[in-house]
Amino acid sequence: MKLEINGRAHDVDAPPDMPLLWVLRDLLGMTGTKFGCGIAQCGACTVHADGAPLRSCVTPVSAVEGKALVTIEGLSSDGSHPVQRAWAELDVVQCGYCQSGQIMSAAALLAQVPAPTDTDIDQALSGNICRCGTYPRIRAAVHRAAELGKA
Ligand code: FES
Ligand code: FES
Repeated sequence: MKLEINGRAHDVDAPPDMPLLWVLRDLLGMTGTKFGCGIAQCGACTVHADGAPLRSCVTPVSAVEGKALVTIEGLSSDGSHPVQRAWAELDVVQCGYCQSGQIMSAAALLAQVPAPTDTDIDQALSGNICRCGTYPRIRAAVHRAAELGKA
């Protein structure tokens, strides 16, 4: 099967019902996307498909053939994406486990809504669970990323 991930074509030999997360992590070695719950409840496995956030743990790989996929590895090549810069500036991360999913959901939101309100942020990221409770810093960092994105 042919997949487009982070702007590159990949040929993968996977059963059509294999979850995309398994393909990314186990077949392609792209371990930035995390396994949390495996049942679409935590958001740790969030990637983009044609710009929209997607739970890769419950998405069969066959469903994303022909879509432009972006993982945390592909958000920018050098950490220069406004969300990554804001996350670093505000020191958002605690244990880090949820954060690639948080960042991917935040980036998808900002691509659609360049200046989101607190409500927009809370709604867009409501499916991303952080056991360390970094939510206030996440919200502040999304606002900061919006500012950086204007520059
Ligand atoms: S691992 Fe996919 S939503 Fe939790
Ligand atoms: S930073 Fe630890 S789970 Fe979110």
